[in-house]
Amino acid sequence: MGYSSLFTPLNIGKYEIKNRLVALPVHTGFAYTDGSTSSWMVDFYSRIAASGVGMVVVANAAVSHDGVVSRFNLRADKDQFIPGLSKLADAIKQKGAVACIQLNHAGRFARTERPLLPSPMTSANLSFNVESLKGFMEFFPFEKRFGLTRYVIEKIKTWRDPMTSYDTERVINDFASAAFRAYLAGFDMVELHGANGYLLCQYLSFFTNQIKSGFGGDFSRRMAFPLAVIRKVKKRLPKDMPLGFRIILREWVPGGIDLSESLVFASILENEGIAYLSASVGTYNSILSPAVLKKMSRIAYLEPDMAKLTARVNIPTIISGRVTTPLCADKLVTEGISDFIGLGRPIRTDPQWVTKAKNPDCHHKREARLFQKINLGTYRNKT
Ligand SMILES: Cc1cc2nc3c(=O)[nH]c(=O)nc-3n(C[C@H](O)[C@H](O)[C@H](O)COP(=O)(O)O)c2cc1C
Repeated sequence: MGYSSLFTPLNIGKYEIKNRLVALPVHTGFAYTDGSTSSWMVDFYSRIAASGVGMVVVANAAVSHDGVVSRFNLRADKDQFIPGLSKLADAIKQKGAVACIQLNHAGRFARTERPLLPSPMTSANLSFNVESLKGFMEFFPFEKRFGLTRYVIEKIKTWRDPMTSYDTERVINDFASAAFRAYLAGFDMVELHGANGYLLCQYLSFFTNQIKSGFGGDFSRRMAFPLAVIRKVKKRLPKDMPLGFRIILREWVPGGIDLSESLVFASILENEGIAYLSASVGTYNSILSPAVLKKMSRIAYLEPDMAKLTARVNIPTIISGRVTTPLCADKLVTEGISDFIGLGRPIRTDPQWVTKAKNPDCHHKREARLFQKINLGTYRNKT
């Protein structure tokens, strides 16, 4: 078999993952407007699991009513959602993949009247948002841009009041209760979303957390909120149930999280008993800027940073970001850059991805030609 390193099993905690391929969390918007699971969503995740990946991470289930990203966000904040979550876990497991669910609180990006944020956004943050908004607008037809601009301006107006101690306590408990519901629903693992500018990430970053005491201050203080969440979640889960973390390696905003901070945080997460680290980069404040879009247009754009993350910790790591071909994926695993290959868009756009990786002879020549064009070597020296 070609690409044998991709098909060598590896454990995450007590679970043997049958291969090194993980379907990354990608928000679907397939839940009903009350946050419950739709049959469409169950079919969708069943098909993702049937593609042959070793593990599927269900995206972005909200831990609180005020933590949803969209009206069609999956929710885990009430017991009434457990039966639907069970259907998702069962559908994934029936197709032979390990079932994990990502839990999130969207913080200031939540679709709610009073979004939660560590500290009020300053004018410096807002001017950067306008830059990012310009990039965002490029994706929409001209006539839609007025409504969207109004929506964003209305949103910015709600970013004035910091979270109270009541809010922080409540959200920590919400994460723990949602994790327990995921366990009751039959998920094998839980992943906490600590990336992409959502609440846990907002506390970690000096760009969004300018509190002077408590959960703010230097980096060690800014880690305190996500760590409080982790400790509470771990208390509610069975000891042997793996808890993963989506870690942000670079935020790409002024004063934001950089690789040196995230590597320190990674070691701390390992000491806290986190079972794996799934890497991500950027937030809504950065990913739409032309400079960042250019960085993220490269194949396996996280490779150099992942090499450092994987060398730093002794727990499994998952790379993300345009790992488009099995050849590239195999190289990343063989060279020890990442233990697992995260597939977000690739596995959704090509459900045959794993089958092709298993049978490279059928596809190898074409892929090799394609891969030459997007050769890893052509970008390595530029990063
Ligand atoms: C439409 C879309 C939705 C996403 N939703 C989530 C999400 O809910 N949680 C998360 O951790 N990452 C999310 N991501 C990031 C992906 O998990 C992944 O890191 C990113 O797409 C890069 O990997 P890829 O090139 O394999 O797609 C999303 C990405 C896209 C494009």
